[in-house]
Amino acid sequence: MAVRSVVLATLGAGAALLGYAAGVERRRPVLRRVTVPVLPAGERALRVLHISDLHLTPGQTWKRRWLTKLAELEPDLVVDTGDTIAHPGAVAAFADAAAPLLNRPGVFVLGSNDRYAPRFKNPLRYLLPDDGRRVHGPMLPWRELVDVLTSAGWVDLDNARMTLDLAGRRVECVGVDDPHIWCDQYDRVAGPPDPTATITLGVTHSPEPRVLQRMVADGVRLVFAGHTHGGQLRVPFYGALVTNCGLDRHRARGLSRFDGAWLHVSAGLGTSPLAPVRFACPPEATLLTLVAED
Ligand SMILES: [Fe+2]
Repeated sequence: MAVRSVVLATLGAGAALLGYAAGVERRRPVLRRVTVPVLPAGERALRVLHISDLHLTPGQTWKRRWLTKLAELEPDLVVDTGDTIAHPGAVAAFADAAAPLLNRPGVFVLGSNDRYAPRFKNPLRYLLPDDGRRVHGPMLPWRELVDVLTSAGWVDLDNARMTLDLAGRRVECVGVDDPHIWCDQYDRVAGPPDPTATITLGVTHSPEPRVLQRMVADGVRLVFAGHTHGGQLRVPFYGALVTNCGLDRHRARGLSRFDGAWLHVSAGLGTSPLAPVRFACPPEATLLTLVAED
């Protein structure tokens, strides 16, 4: 009888946790605020809004409303590190919800999930070492997404670099297409920083160390990445179990140092439609205030 009670209690607790992760936490986004001492001495602050991994589907009203409100922060620059859509009908929904944000200066890269719809795979594969195999669903309208973003003036940083004029100063951005599916071609953008720029920022969907190392070696001072979902299911007092890439799990989300530069990994705003759960890892966007090192 006692054993039966324990089993029933365990099953009940598991069901309650799953219900919370699927029905509550994944719909409660938080705005994180981070200060990064990364600009040259004497420079005034630069405010950067980092969004990532929306995995937007047309029905996600809460996410679209929250995205619209983010424009009220009036950032100097918006960085979108990819996996923005997760449904063939999501581009129009994104364009509508992001319209106020698209009025701000912005840069973006694509993630693998912008190109391919999710397809069911064994969840245990996430807990095993990466064997290099990728399972893709049908193609998504990623070209339409790129059109929406670039028509608004946002810069496509997929294997590209560009120096932007932001509020009277020059900021260089260097990016790669998604390393998770080996679309990164860093050699096309390699080179020293633009000497006219105040800072050089790096942008990638997946924070693969091979890309981070090359960016930092070329003088990038701060890299923005997504992809990890912060682990999506985190164990309290332990953190992420996996990052789904070559980065160590302690850097699955938030700000950290990488080879003397800074790395900011966003836990993102969404989940795969096939695994709609989050625990101890709410959806997030981050407002980073870059300030002078002194
Ligand atoms: Fe993602």
